[in-house]
Amino acid sequence: MKFLLAFIILVIAAVLVRKLLRFKTLTPLLPRKYNFGKRRDTLREVLRLLDERGARVLLETGVARMGLEKSKGDGASTIVFGLWAKQNDAHLYSVDIDPEATQRAGQAVAEMGLSDNVTLVTSDSVAYLDDFTETVDFLYLDSYDYHKTDTAIQTASQDHHLKEIKAIEGCLHDKTVILIDDCDMPNGGKGKLVIEWLTGRGWKVHMSEYQVILVQST
Ligand SMILES: C[S@@+](CC[C@H](N)C(=O)[O-])C[C@H]1O[C@@H](n2cnc3c(N)ncnc32)[C@H](O)[C@@H]1O
Repeated sequence: MKFLLAFIILVIAAVLVRKLLRFKTLTPLLPRKYNFGKRRDTLREVLRLLDERGARVLLETGVARMGLEKSKGDGASTIVFGLWAKQNDAHLYSVDIDPEATQRAGQAVAEMGLSDNVTLVTSDSVAYLDDFTETVDFLYLDSYDYHKTDTAIQTASQDHHLKEIKAIEGCLHDKTVILIDDCDMPNGGKGKLVIEWLTGRGWKVHMSEYQVILVQST
């Protein structure tokens, strides 16, 4: 009986420790209660690079449609980069094809007091990036949803992200930081073709986890 009790306590302790280790916060940018899971370390590194490089123009494809609610599942990117923009006198442009997604993200942005530093646009991202004229200091690619098993969706998503990078290439410079989401996925994830294309043009993979960071120079 004693052994069984000790075993149960040990299992509960192990589960709690595992949970704690997987709970990854972005403090002090956001309160401790928000878990950024597998994206936390790449997000932290991106924010460090943006600080170091004094980024001013941030651009992302795929808005945080659930605001901070899905910090672990989706990344809450618009809030994370919007907050950084507010604290650093920068501006985030965020585009999404789904009007409901931009509307919801707009609510979250307003609730966080970020409206002056975030512009949300409803459009196909490739068309929007094609027309974008400002010099981009940070680019985050996270639009066309990937799929774990459907290879047709995987290919379509990879093609779409490749079109995005080709559309915005002319606005990038040698200190631009690029982040791509959902890369550690079957068949290479969203970044497969983009990374091949960028590394063929002198970009370097700076950090590769679930998300991938690329830069030209360190
Ligand atoms: C994974 S979600 C973005 C998650 C967000 N970055 C976050 O951190 O919460 C992908 C988004 O891409 C959008 N999307 C899909 N196809 C698109 C396209 N062609 N142009 C722009 N946005 C697109 C979807 O509407 C969806 O809101």
